Amino acid sequence: EKGGWSSFMAKEVSEQPDAVANTLRGRIAGAAVVVPELTAFGDDALRDIRRIVIVACGTASYAGQVGKYAIEKWTRIPVDVELSHEFRYRDPVLTADTLVISISQSGETMDTLMAVKYARDAGAKAISICNTQGATIPRESDAVIYTHAGPEVAVASTKAFVAQITALYLFALHLARVRGSLSEAEQAEQVVELQGIPAKIATTLLQESTVHELANWMSDTRAVLFLGRHVGFPIALEGALKLKELAYIHAEGFAAGELKHGPIALIEPGQPVFVVVPSPRGSAHLHPKVVSNIQEIRARGARIIAIAEEGDVAVLPFADTVIRIPLASPLFEPLLAVVPLQIFAMELATAKGLDVDQPRNLAKSVTVE
Ligand code: F6R
Repeated sequence: EKGGWSSFMAKEVSEQPDAVANTLRGRIAGAAVVVPELTAFGDDALRDIRRIVIVACGTASYAGQVGKYAIEKWTRIPVDVELSHEFRYRDPVLTADTLVISISQSGETMDTLMAVKYARDAGAKAISICNTQGATIPRESDAVIYTHAGPEVAVASTKAFVAQITALYLFALHLARVRGSLSEAEQAEQVVELQGIPAKIATTLLQESTVHELANWMSDTRAVLFLGRHVGFPIALEGALKLKELAYIHAEGFAAGELKHGPIALIEPGQPVFVVVPSPRGSAHLHPKVVSNIQEIRARGARIIAIAEEGDVAVLPFADTVIRIPLASPLFEPLLAVVPLQIFAMELATAKGLDVDQPRNLAKSVTVE
């Protein structure tokens, strides 16, 4: 079943262009996003939403954090992202105009299922984003957007993650169309960008050899830090989670702006730090701030691995390694930037002789609270 791949994870990482394409399929009509499952949910119900709460665990929650930026930007509806297991035990405020979106690859995660049930009992509507047909969470929801990424066998989530983010973008664009919060021209622009993502992920996968060398070089590293900003922040968190679960290395993701509020004290000579660098074109206001963060930690001896857009020369004087991603509009960059981080964790685990498909202590689907 692995085909010629060394692991299911390697296979699933390589399938990410298809995962995104399959999630998009049948949901774009001309220059606009029309998700049939949301049409069935009802335009009036979508227009009534005043607040969105995303519930999920682990990697799926990071997809939710990326989705928050897109939903808020395109629809102007406030979005909170909550870990499912924290959500229902603190008496959350839920009203009939709150929409709860759950995200789950397996559709069986008990914490997320209980959060959905709790929300519906409190009168909120629930939409699920799920990769597994007929799973429990979609059955307990008012509507489901399936990600169609194909079965994910490796314990570490990869192709489901990019498909979840894609589904959230589709949700946001459908909602923006129904509510009229985005002009037709803006909607059309996003649709074109989105359709270009699978090919750009394929290009990003070609960076594998750079990442492979890096992983071999770093096989006895004890701690790795990840920095990002805006949609790059959840990607930093995801990069750290992948490294923990696969390579058993202590790893932490930070919002780059938080550095000077504490984490910079961790920087000592030789400390590897991955930095997800925002686009100098698309995020002209954030790019220089992240470059200056890089300079600050470089001056304290950090070894910088920059994930930066093709043509971004500002990082060159300060980065020890640059991993290039193709140009994309800022909201779509996470779909590219996460790829080298997945490969890095996988390669480092392999270099340490670990089983990348079955990390210790973990199960694919967590069906207990
Ligand atoms: C990390 C990972 C987990 C899952 C989490 C939610 O690689 O796989 O963090 O993302 O357990 O699982 P699902 O999406 O099945 O609800």
